[in-house]
Amino acid sequence: MADASVDVILSNCVINLCEDKGAVFAEAFRVLKPAGRLEISDMVTAGPLPLALRYDESGWSSCISGALPEQEYLDLVAEAGFEEITSRRSSSAGVIHNVPVYGIIVSARKPTTQRSLRTADLSASSTAEL
Ligand SMILES: C[S@@+](CC[C@H](N)C(=O)[O-])C[C@H]1O[C@@H](n2cnc3c(N)ncnc32)[C@H](O)[C@@H]1O
Repeated sequence: MADASVDVILSNCVINLCEDKGAVFAEAFRVLKPAGRLEISDMVTAGPLPLALRYDESGWSSCISGALPEQEYLDLVAEAGFEEITSRRSSSAGVIHNVPVYGIIVSARKPTTQRSLRTADLSASSTAEL
């Protein structure tokens, strides 16, 4: 998809299935037009899940093993350059290994001004260098 060619990205319970969520948000940022919107529904956790779950295929297919702690998830959205990031709880998937797993709805916007876009690029590239 061409750079800055999309108005809105909608995603329901897909990004938790991707190992490199930072790459997903960076790609979303690249294809969105300035002021473009990201509207996501996804699964997150209230804290780190046991490492063993990362290797549990059924855990992945039930949208649990790939779920990140909420703040880590939102930080990745911000690191990609998005602004006006909001999140609100939508559902509960119960407690897995004493860790609450739940649904959130995340909204974010690609900056409009060139200055903010340049800043976003700088922060994205500095993050990429880490
Ligand atoms: C839980 S389902 C959600 C499907 C749909 N979004 C919905 O709301 O019903 C997860 C979907 O993500 C797709 N998926 C998993 N990994 C993906 C990836 N890396 N890129 C694109 N789609 C992926 C799967 O094929 C599956 O259709």
